[in-house]
Order: sequence, then structure tokens, then C-alpha cells
Amino acid sequence: MDYSNEVIRAIKNRRSAAKLSPDKPVGREMIEAVLDAAIWAPNHHLTEPWRFVVITGDERKRLGDAIADAISSTPSDPPMPPEKVERERTRPLTAPVVIAAICSPSQDKRAVAQEELVAGGGALQNMLLAAHSIGLGTKLKTGPYSYSQVIRGFLNMRDSESLISFVYLGFPEGEAAPGKRAGLVGKVDWRS
Ligand SMILES: Cc1cc2nc3c(=O)[nH]c(=O)nc-3n(C[C@H](O)[C@H](O)[C@H](O)COP(=O)(O)O)c2cc1C
Repeated sequence: MDYSNEVIRAIKNRRSAAKLSPDKPVGREMIEAVLDAAIWAPNHHLTEPWRFVVITGDERKRLGDAIADAISSTPSDPPMPPEKVERERTRPLTAPVVIAAICSPSQDKRAVAQEELVAGGGALQNMLLAAHSIGLGTKLKTGPYSYSQVIRGFLNMRDSESLISFVYLGFPEGEAAPGKRAGLVGKVDWRS
């Protein structure tokens, strides 16, 4: 039996984009379609523990400045060379849209922090698949600076919140690297 179908093919064929067209705008309806898919991820007690910051236009420059500040204030050994810091400053301009996907755990007494984060991961995957299904490409970006106070401040994050990832969104350009997975061998304990 071949269980390959549209959903499974989309899951397997989605790849992180090599490059995104920086100047080809993505309409608001496409962005909303991606976010609307995100929120259908499973989440325990229906806490819906997520929120999104959609960064476009000149706000991408302000994000880049925050990233550069964050790198300068995040100790690293060896320190990041200045030219690399400048590359990170301009990185948000490499996509027309950058979405910060944030896990925002519920105050509900039944909510379990780990489950809230897992739900956030599901929302992230939904975003990537929805984008892929409507012809958009995505690239994820984190790194030590993304968890810094500077970035938390930029995104107005409460103490309980955590960044799931920055999602760079746009029309894909060039060939993505081929998908690579080690397969199921050694990952499954079959019991009966
Ligand atoms: C939470 C999270 C953060 C990530 N951050 C980065 C990143 O900072 N830089 C990067 O190149 N890829 C990042 N990735 C993407 C992975 O590198 C990528 O998914 C992996 O190489 C597999 O490639 P594929 O997406 O084409 O299957 C991140 C993935 C996740 C889930």
C-alpha cells in the first residue's frame, strides 16, 4: 500500500529555502493564511499558547539593529567579527516578511510549560507547510542572540514567553538543499 498523498508529500517536499526574493512583496492575505494555519496546531486544554509579530518594511531595519545590539551584548567566545555582526544586522532585509513566532504559555492552572512549547512547535510546522502549499518559501533563524533581553524587549515579550523562531517568509529563489533525514532505523521501539 502506498500511503503517499498530498499531505505526506507536502511534509516531505517542504525545504528551507535557499534564498527569498527580498523585494517581491507578500500580500497580507497570504501572511494571514500562514498564521491561520499556525493556530490549528493541537494544544492541550485549548490554551492556544502562541502569538506572532509580523515584521515588514522599515521595521525589518529596526529588527536588524536590535539583532546587532543583541549580538554585541551577548557574550560569545570568540566574539563575533564586526563584519559578521553587520551581516546579521542586514539579514532581516533578505526577506520581505519576518515573523517572530512566540510561545505564550497560558495562565490556566492545567497548563504544563512543556506542553505549551510543544504546541508552539506544532504551530511553527503548520506555518512552514501552509507557506509551502501556497508557493511561499521559509527560512528559520534563531541563534544565541535571539534569546537575549534586547530581542525580548524588541518583541515586547513577557517573562513567561519564549521565542520559538524567527520565520523568514517570501517567494523562494534558487534551489533548496536536498532534504536529508537519517530514517527511522534506531528511532522506533516496536512493542506488541
Ligand atoms: C527552532 C528552530 C530554529 C532553527 N534555526 C535555524 C537557524 O538559526 N539557522 C538555520 O540555518 N536553520 C535553522 N533552523 C532550520 C534547520 O536548520 C532546518 O530545518 C534543517 O536544516 C532541515 O532542513 P529542511 O528545513 O530543509 O528540512 C531551525 C529550525 C528550528 C526547528
